[in-house]
Amino acid sequence: MPDLKIKIKDVLLKNPIIIASGTPTYGLSMVKKCIRSEAAAFVTKTLCYTEWLQKQPRPRWHIEHPGAIDNGGYFSLYSTERLNPTPPDEYVQKMKEYAKEAHDFDVKVIASIAGTDPGTWSKLTDLVTENGADMIELNLQCPHVEKGQLTGMVAGRDPELCYSILQLVRKRTSLPIIGKVVGEGTDPIQIARRMIAGGADAVVITGRFQGLYLNIETEKPIHWGGMGGYGGFWQAPITRKWLVRAAEADLGAPVIGGAGIGAFEDVVSYLLCGAAAVQTCSAAIVYGHKIIKRWLRQISGWMEAKGYDSIADFSGRSVSKIIAPSQIPGDVPYVARIDQNACQKCLRCLEACPYAAISVVEKKLVVDPEKCDGCRLCVALCQQGAAEFFQK
Ligand SMILES: Cc1cc2nc3c(=O)[nH]c(=O)nc-3n(C[C@H](O)[C@H](O)[C@H](O)COP(=O)(O)O)c2cc1C
Repeated sequence: MPDLKIKIKDVLLKNPIIIASGTPTYGLSMVKKCIRSEAAAFVTKTLCYTEWLQKQPRPRWHIEHPGAIDNGGYFSLYSTERLNPTPPDEYVQKMKEYAKEAHDFDVKVIASIAGTDPGTWSKLTDLVTENGADMIELNLQCPHVEKGQLTGMVAGRDPELCYSILQLVRKRTSLPIIGKVVGEGTDPIQIARRMIAGGADAVVITGRFQGLYLNIETEKPIHWGGMGGYGGFWQAPITRKWLVRAAEADLGAPVIGGAGIGAFEDVVSYLLCGAAAVQTCSAAIVYGHKIIKRWLRQISGWMEAKGYDSIADFSGRSVSKIIAPSQIPGDVPYVARIDQNACQKCLRCLEACPYAAISVVEKKLVVDPEKCDGCRLCVALCQQGAAEFFQK
């Protein structure tokens, strides 16, 4: 069996999968599922002292294209789920108890905190340090925040605020600190760099986005109004991009791949892009915590087939294979052809072809090889697999 262990700072994780803070770590019943899921660690639902952030709007969930969950398509999770409803002082008493059980299963507990001013950042740091957390994660990406507060994406978009919050927390704890980086409205690499300079031992790149759903009849946002957290597996290519940029920037601390994991291939690809570990939330919501066990089996199978004994054998291997835009060749000739047996004559490719290379000849769709540029748009669009593509 390949060895899946990885290390973050001095903490040994039995494999690279961490369950991210959110619904899959909400409340004790979810914590029990995390402990038995075979994930190496989980991040508690974020603790905070702000009363309105502890209250949950009802309803607060919307899923766009839920039918895509089971057929491999893209859906989006939209929610106004706020932070941990249990007051921190009460929650850490439970945390102290379940941390013992987690350790019996070799699962690490990462306490997520969100202060709103220096006082609450300090208080929360002390509280989780003294009550059984193995690591601390600073939630500097939460979308449900008010202007002017020293928390969530409001503070998280400002590199110098991130730096000073990290410094403050660093001074109060010897536990490893993970900074969670916001994915929009700023440069995540610059934020990560300042978090590490302030004392972060690792960073998560990135959380999900902020979005808005409007009901055009009422002309108001759905549910209660306001904006929500917005994400899904479609975030994976964006996360891969940032992971590569982080590897190129050589930040000097482990980077945990965040948003967008929907399959074991995403876990592998994040590691190939230089992630030391990954966090996953949406997949645990839509497939259940049991998905982690399946992914771990699949990752081991992939490693065996590739002849890799450990994560270090392939970690970051794709980074050097990514070339600059100017190096992508512009002169390799390709051409498309249409398989008449498969073509349903929907004309989508004909309409879309920017070279006017596709036309109807004797009731058949044909490609003019002289006009065809080899861009592959017709192949990408064709839902019957009728457009074929080959090098000239
Ligand atoms: C409903 C919901 C609630 C979340 N709550 C938290 C939270 O309390 N603290 C936090 O740091 N992140 C929270 N997140 C963000 C996730 O931890 C994660 O970063 C994000 O969903 C991207 O990962 P994914 O694509 O695997 O879902 C939440 C996400 C969702 C979907």
